[in-house]
Order: sequence, then structure tokens, then C-alpha cells
Amino acid sequence: MHGAWILRSVEVVVDGRPGLLVLKGEDLSAAYPGMVRYTLEFRRGEDVLYTYRTNTYEYPPGTSQTAESVALTAFHRLRQELPDRPEAFVLHPPEPAVGPLPLRAPSTAVVLQGSPRQHGNSAILAGWTTDACRDAGLRCETLCPAEMRIEECTGCFRCYNAGRCVIDDDMVAIYRTLAAVGLVIVCTPVYAETVPAALKAVIDRCQAYRARRLLTGGESGRQAGILCAVSGQVGAENFVCVSRVAGSFFRLIGAEMLGEVLVDGADAVNDIRTVAGKEEGVRAELRALISRVAD
Ligand SMILES: Cc1cc2nc3c(=O)[nH]c(=O)nc-3n(C[C@H](O)[C@H](O)[C@H](O)COP(=O)(O)O)c2cc1C
Repeated sequence: MHGAWILRSVEVVVDGRPGLLVLKGEDLSAAYPGMVRYTLEFRRGEDVLYTYRTNTYEYPPGTSQTAESVALTAFHRLRQELPDRPEAFVLHPPEPAVGPLPLRAPSTAVVLQGSPRQHGNSAILAGWTTDACRDAGLRCETLCPAEMRIEECTGCFRCYNAGRCVIDDDMVAIYRTLAAVGLVIVCTPVYAETVPAALKAVIDRCQAYRARRLLTGGESGRQAGILCAVSGQVGAENFVCVSRVAGSFFRLIGAEMLGEVLVDGADAVNDIRTVAGKEEGVRAELRALISRVAD
């Protein structure tokens, strides 16, 4: 974040006691080009009694309003109406912005199993991955987005107001897990060159996780990422898009991509365990990558 400035500031007397109504702007261009967040606060001393936030990316090209016009309207409305009916605004404590991410537990991992098929090849890869994590002394949890209640991102950009997503669903648990673990492993099939829809929804919704990281000044502790993918067709080119999507995901959450384990040609064999030497080879690749985290 680069800077903040006061747009408006006025003393308002509420219930016979003076307080300060302040509208400030903040440059969030570190998050997106030209992004500005406006925060309107009514406070008495250190006590913040009312907060309203909006940012420039909430207003798509076809809307008649701008973030600044909305923020200024809110400022003028509060200035007029606060003294007469404070209960309409300060009745409930304002929603606080999210705090910094918790301290990571380096010896923990999460596997995001991206296939909707719970007995498919990605689930097999997830099992081998979990074994490798445990052998390396990492506590490992597996999450299956297709079995969770995860809405798609609506692109509202409101996560850049207070660092949290406005949708209340199972992403809350995923955000909590991502914030806590030292290693994130994506096990996924290739679907139309990319990842299945439920996993893609998780990745898109991590926009809110990125917002929290940026608004609260980063994370505490390193995090590594590994991609483990299986394609139906034969050839390394089947993973080009999935690799890029996984890279984008790891950048969103601030994880350093350690490497990839790619298994192609699954459709001709149905079960990758039937390919001679495949299981041993994949397990060895996973062990080698995961040992770099456990060291
Ligand atoms: C909707 C759908 C789209 C797919 N698209 C591709 C693709 O673009 N490229 C590819 O190599 N395989 C593709 N496949 C094949 C799967 O990647 C393959 O069957 C894989 O083994 C499935 O993994 P799973 O058993 O973990 O579900 C697709 C499969 C489905 C169901």
C-alpha cells in the first residue's frame, strides 16, 4: 500500500458528545492498477463507532456511480443524519477489518483433491501424496472442493474493502487451512485443458485471500506449493494450461511453487496403478519434492 489521504473530516455532535467523521482514500494500486479504497469512519477518540468502505473496482464500466461519489454521498448523509438518529448508524459495532494471517505451522500440509470422482486417479494421487507427507513427518489434511459448498466468485471486488469474502460458505474453512499450513498440494485431473469447476471456484475465490494478504501486510512464515496432475491423453502439452492455472493459484496465496508431478495417458489404462512402475515413480517424485519442505 502506498499512501492514504483525508478527503473530508468534520466534527459531529452525537448524544451531546463530539466525534469525528472522516473520509479517507487509500492507494491500493499494489493490488490492482489504479485501485483506491475509501473508508468512512465515525469515531470518538480510539473508538470507531461506524465504518463504511468501498473501492473503485466495485463499479464496473456500465454503472452510473463511482466509488468516490458513493463515498462522498455517504459522508454527507452521515454528517446530516447522525446527530438526529445515531441509532440508525451506530447501533451495531462496525465490522472490523480482518487481522493479519496467523503464524504458519511448517510441518503441516493440505491436499486439494480437485476431481469430482472420489475414487478416480486424482484421488489415488492424493493418497500417495498424503503418504509422502506423513513419511516426511508432515501432518496432512485432504479437502475435496467438489464435495464442499463453494460458490463461484462473482467478481464483486468487495474483498478489497475489509480483506474478507462476502460469500459465507465452505471457503471459510479453506481460507483458514491455507493460512495455517506450510505446504499446499493440488492433485487434479485435466478438464478441458484446465482444472475441474469446483477447484477453479476455490482458486478464483482465493482472490479474497490475496486481498487479506495485501491489506494486512503479508503472511507469517513460508509456504510451498506442489502440482500433481493427471491427464486422459498422452503428452506433456496436456498440462500446459493446468500448470499455468496452478502457478496463478500459488501466486494468489503467496506460495512458492516447488515443482510438478505429471501423469499423462490415464484414459487408455483407466487406473494409473496398473501401469508398471508408475506408482513407484510417482511416489519417488513426491518424496523428493516434499523432502525439500520437511528439511
Ligand atoms: C469433463 C472432462 C474433460 C476432460 N478434458 C480433458 C482434457 O482436456 N485433456 C486430457 O488430457 N484429458 C481430459 N479429460 C480426461 C481426464 O483428465 C482423465 O480421465 C483423468 O484420469 C480423470 O481424473 P480422475 O480419475 O481423477 O477424475 C477430461 C475428462 C472429463 C470428465
